Amino acid sequence: MTSGQPPIDRTARIFVAGHRGLVGSAIIRRLESDGFTNILTASRDQLDLRDQAAVNYWFRANRPEHVFLVAGTVGGIMANSTRPAEFIYDNLMIHATVVDAAHRFGSDKLLYLGSSCIYPRLAEQPMTESALLTGELEPTNEPYAIAKIAGIKLCQAYRRQFGSRFISAMPTNLYGPGDNFDLESSHVLPAMIRKFDDARRSGVQTVQIWGSGTPRREFLHVDDLADACLFLMDNYEGESHINVGTGLDLSILELAEMVRDLVHPGATIQLDRTKPDGTPRKLLDVSALSALGWSASIPLRNGLESTYRWYLDHAEEARGLPMQRTSAAAVNVGGVASTI
Ligand SMILES: NC(=O)c1ccc[n+]([C@@H]2O[C@H](COP(=O)([O-])OP(=O)(O)OC[C@H]3O[C@@H](n4cnc5c(N)ncnc54)[C@H](OP(=O)(O)O)[C@@H]3O)[C@@H](O)[C@H]2O)c1
Repeated sequence: MTSGQPPIDRTARIFVAGHRGLVGSAIIRRLESDGFTNILTASRDQLDLRDQAAVNYWFRANRPEHVFLVAGTVGGIMANSTRPAEFIYDNLMIHATVVDAAHRFGSDKLLYLGSSCIYPRLAEQPMTESALLTGELEPTNEPYAIAKIAGIKLCQAYRRQFGSRFISAMPTNLYGPGDNFDLESSHVLPAMIRKFDDARRSGVQTVQIWGSGTPRREFLHVDDLADACLFLMDNYEGESHINVGTGLDLSILELAEMVRDLVHPGATIQLDRTKPDGTPRKLLDVSALSALGWSASIPLRNGLESTYRWYLDHAEEARGLPMQRTSAAAVNVGGVASTI
């Protein structure tokens, strides 16, 4: 359903919650390039989004008219399986505090981000929006998925009870400048870039990848996602979440070969089949978003090249430093194991 409303006002107060993250920093870039003049941000040390009283105080003081809710505790299989309590608690709290404050303090529109991992483990592929809650979740990230599903249901409940213009987008796996390259908490694509680059730098010819290499995944450049988020804020008003992806997938081994050819040509890929694979296939059906008039524009190969260039520009300064975020990114040199 298109909104039938004018696009959001480029001079309105826009709160990007999670502005230093992969998604948040891309949304800031997109809003700035589109001429938004009143972007509001609050770093974690200024505002812990899990704290309802603090979030209420901030909303009362700043009265954001529109909200991009893209903060959360995010990570790959290893982080999900070793820190399940943080993944469910942090995300439940962040989503609840911000959605409630947006309602309470009169924000006009809010966009919430789900994640494609909240669809059932064995959902029919490609996954349509209606596959949500039709089967068992992938056990390796169930606590995270439950929190993300709760976020979608929160938006829907506030719409139904209060008429709030709260919408949800469901992105596939994301990558791009500002990604997390810490091998203990990163997603598969940045972890691969990091591992191949580490091997290249140290002259190692074999790179080990977790699992069988057969699971299939879809990857969307974060600048495409940011563009889709603004498009949905401007044009979408429905209760259903909307999938955001490319509609194309590839196997983990094919991805590893693509990264190898870019970063460390000639290296040998060794599959560690003792490690878990995760969901066998994850591909979003993006026909609803296409029907609204949006499609992705950054091919994976181009996106990988620019992401690797970004990593090279930022890796040197991060090497030897403890994990910390720059204004656009997290780069960390710790960690030993990869994730899928
Ligand atoms: N990355 C993906 O592949 C992917 C795929 C699908 C959906 N998503 C969704 O997209 C959203 C953003 O993900 P991302 O990849 O951009 O994550 P990210 O890079 O880890 O960024 C998360 C942001 O949230 C902030 N944050 C976390 N806990 C906070 C707290 N308690 N108080 C205040 N701020 C807090 C972080 O602040 P600091 O900078 O201080 O750490 C950071 O700015 C999440 O909802 C995620 O579920 C991501």
